[in-house]
Amino acid sequence: MGVLLGAAAAEEARSLKVAIHGAGGKMGQAIVRLAANERAQVVGAIVSRGSSRIGRDVGELAGTGTIGVAMSDDTSAGLLGADVVIDFSRPEALPRLLHLAMRAKVAVVSGTTRLDATCERLLDEAAQHVPVLWSPNTSIGIHVLAEIAASAARRLGPGYDVEIVEVHHRAKVDAPSGTAVRLADAVRAARGEAGDAAAALSDVHGREGNVGPRKADELGIFAVRGGDVIGDHTVHLLGPGERLELTHRATSRDLFARGALRAAWHLHGKPPGRYTMADVIEG
Ligand SMILES: NC(=O)c1ccc[n+]([C@@H]2O[C@H](COP(=O)([O-])OP(=O)(O)OC[C@H]3O[C@@H](n4cnc5c(N)ncnc54)[C@H](OP(=O)(O)O)[C@@H]3O)[C@@H](O)[C@H]2O)c1
Repeated sequence: MGVLLGAAAAEEARSLKVAIHGAGGKMGQAIVRLAANERAQVVGAIVSRGSSRIGRDVGELAGTGTIGVAMSDDTSAGLLGADVVIDFSRPEALPRLLHLAMRAKVAVVSGTTRLDATCERLLDEAAQHVPVLWSPNTSIGIHVLAEIAASAARRLGPGYDVEIVEVHHRAKVDAPSGTAVRLADAVRAARGEAGDAAAALSDVHGREGNVGPRKADELGIFAVRGGDVIGDHTVHLLGPGERLELTHRATSRDLFARGALRAAWHLHGKPPGRYTMADVIEG
């Protein structure tokens, strides 16, 4: 019996304790479903204030069976005992979470998109107290795409025009996607490193009417919305007589959840600071 209890305690020590902020949402539910596969134990499930889900078991909602963690709108209580909080919620909910996580010394992985300047500043402030990773796309493949797109833009040079097209489901509330903005930043930075005059590319969101020929310093970003598309991103590099189309397609939300759990493991035991998905990939 003592041996069995010892084994259970050792198993628990090997698992990562995570709280989920936005636990009732699509991503929060995916994290609940995949946590056990990634040796993570859900210890807190935080939902929006006054949510109809409060008190309900989060595993039951996710379809994994009861796990003994009731959803709550008490963020401080939800963080108790957690090593890392994984956040997929709304930008307006992030400041309060960051304040409470730094006070509770809980590391933060956030995938919430379209953050404003206040959130950005608070991520930096929190990173002085706990490890913090924010990424608008926690899939591993999209970061590899960003590296490839940056390399292609650098090697092809300013004679090649860059345009980015993203496609998402009809319920997505923001445009362009945070990932498309990240891809544009990667291309811009690569052109800057190469010392190209066109490094100062300015984003163009859609074209209509008599806009004239494309200018050399444009970087087009286009958002297509409809159906249930989880997320496609294509970087077009268009030159004289040829073009490259570099595409990433997400076929399941689980991809982002797995990446977020991998990021949570990466932060575990790390000193305070800002971390990136590139750090996670490098291991
Ligand atoms: N980084 C990535 O790879 C990635 C991937 C997919 C999505 N995202 C982003 O992640 C976010 C969530 O996406 P989703 O698809 O899961 O959306 P969703 O299904 O709408 O879920 C968002 C959840 O956040 C909850 N929420 C709002 N305010 C909260 C608060 N103060 N405390 C706790 N929970 C709160 C909402 O609860 P109520 O329903 O009760 O309001 C909702 O359940 C979005 O910003 C999305 O763009 C990022």
